[in-house]
This record gives sequence, C-alpha cells and structure tokens, in this order.
Amino acid sequence: MTPDGATALACSNIAFVKYWGNLDPALRLPFNDSVSMNLSAATTTTAVELDHDLQRDTVEVDGRLLTGAALERAVAQLDLIRARAGLDARARVVSRNTFPMGTGIASSASGFAALTLAAARACGLRLDEAQLSAIARRGSGSAARSVPGGFVDWHAAATDEASYARSLAAPAHWDLTDVVAVVSREHKAVGSSGGHAAALTSPHFAARLSLLPGRLAVAREAIAGRDLARLGPMIEEEALCLHAVALTSRPPLIYWTGATVSLLSQVARWRSDGLPVFFTLDAGPNVHLICEGRHAPAVESLARGLPYVESVLVNEPGGHARIVPPVARHPSSGDGEPERGA
Ligand code: PMV
Repeated sequence: MTPDGATALACSNIAFVKYWGNLDPALRLPFNDSVSMNLSAATTTTAVELDHDLQRDTVEVDGRLLTGAALERAVAQLDLIRARAGLDARARVVSRNTFPMGTGIASSASGFAALTLAAARACGLRLDEAQLSAIARRGSGSAARSVPGGFVDWHAAATDEASYARSLAAPAHWDLTDVVAVVSREHKAVGSSGGHAAALTSPHFAARLSLLPGRLAVAREAIAGRDLARLGPMIEEEALCLHAVALTSRPPLIYWTGATVSLLSQVARWRSDGLPVFFTLDAGPNVHLICEGRHAPAVESLARGLPYVESVLVNEPGGHARIVPPVARHPSSGDGEPERGA
C-alpha cells in the first residue's frame, strides 16, 4: 500500500430476507430490513490509486474499462468518498471478480463494498464498520451487507447515517453453505436498480412488506439457533414472494429461465429423497442451494450432474471486507481501450 493507494477484498452475499424497493432511491434507503450471509468464494478485489495527474477516473473490471452508466455509478461513489475526505485527485481503479457478473450472484454487493473500503483508505479516511457500510449502501444497497462479516443484518432507517449493516454472527458460527448453480452467464436485461423502482408498481408489493417482520424474526432466530429446518422453508417462500413482485411489476421482470424452474422443482425432489437442501434466488436466473456443510458435497455433485447447470460455486460463510496486499497486475490490464480483453 502506498499513502494514496489501497486494495480491498469483499465477499458478495446472499440474502435470506431480501431488499427489494427503495423508500429513498437517491440515498438507497430500503423499505425493509434484510438478512444475509457473505459468500466466501464470490469475492471482488479492488485497487484504488489516487493520481493528481489523471484527468478523469478510470475503472477497469475484469479487464474491461467501464463506460457510460456503469462508469458514472462508480465515479459517483468515488466522489462521495473524496468529498468526505476533502480531496479532488482522480483515481485509477482496477477490480477483479471471482464469479461472473450480472448472473444473480451480486457483483454490485462485493464490488461497491470493496471499492468503498479501498477508496476510503486511499483517501486517508478513518471510518468504522457502520460508516463504511452506510457509504457502501449508496453505491448498491446490498453492498452495505458485504462490509461486516458472516451473517449480516441491514437496518432500514430514515437517515443516511442510520441505515447500515452489522454482523449477527461470525462466519464460524454455522457451516451453512450456498452451492450456487449457475444456469446462465448472460448479463441480465434489467439490473436491480430498475427492479427496485418497478417493485412499487406491483399490486403484491405491500402484501410482501406486511409479511417481512415475521420472516425477519425467523431469519434472526434460525441463524442464532443454527436451525435450517426453520430457515429453509422461509427462504424459499421469501424468494418466490420477491419474484412474484418482480413478475407483476410494470413492466414485468422475468428473471427466470426454463432451467431455473426445472431446478426449483428438483430441489423439492431432493428434499423428499431425504436431502435437507433449500433454494433461494436473487434478481437473476441462478439458483442458490442452501444446505449445511455436511450435505454440501452431495448437493454439489447432484447439481453438477444436471445437464442445464453450467457451473457450480460452493460458498461457506465469508468474512468482512478487508484491506489486502496489492495484487500483481495482469500485463494486458490498466490503460487500454474500453471493452478490451476479457
Ligand atoms: O443491491 P442491489 O441494488 O443490487 O439489490 C439487491 C437485490 C436482491 O439481490 C434481489 C436482494 C438482496 O437483498 O440482495
């Protein structure tokens, strides 16, 4: 690390009770609390280097320079952090994911958590976890939950500073496993920001909100008691409920493919054969298979055996966002043309 540069690593997360809809879209203040688990194998590592000679920020993700709205969103996040530090130097940002972007594994969660921590450190800011979480939230709501470690609770609150996430339990508390079955690597047509805005047009939005206090209580208690038999049915109900809102929004958002539906039915069959595994989904087609560590090898091998599953990513509970040593740069990365490389 140099005085004006830092590298941070953050895990993505899977929500058991989900965030869908903003009370304040500009500040990304959610309607409801949400509860999640960090994903150990789905991480983003981001280096931020401040350079007074740079004319504009450059942001490279997995070998491609961001342009357009994606670049503006990252620059807005850098601006927030620079304003807080009273700095105006532009930044060179290089980011690497261990998983495909835009497929229902939330790259924005790990991405904005890592960017926030690296940029804050590069700008010399000394912030506590709650402050970092609240700033990460401004980039992507779910990024607030990727700042603390393990099992995480994000509170809906009326003000910018008060809506942040905190850890409910450390990663070692429970060997819950998320076996992500990737059925599509295509970038989704409507990102979650569009989904949050459309959610309020669904006639089922208010009904889902009214059910969330009960689901949040189940999530918190089941995590505290390591009780998958209690957590599992609730997470399936909650995922289907979120997709019921998405499907009935105007315009309708259909995130599923045929493979998604086949896999959802398959999970019920595995369970009736005696395997304790439950599904959840994010805003995408891939299916997150939730089970305890001792059943993860069986779930992984069954998922790999399905012809419509492209790949499988096995995650244990992941840690908190953290500063890491700089990563050696790929020879083809850094100062190239937009969209160059892969
Ligand atoms: O943080 P966003 O804007 O990408 O929204 C995440 C939305 C869901 O992944 C569907 C739910 C959640 O709570 O993570």
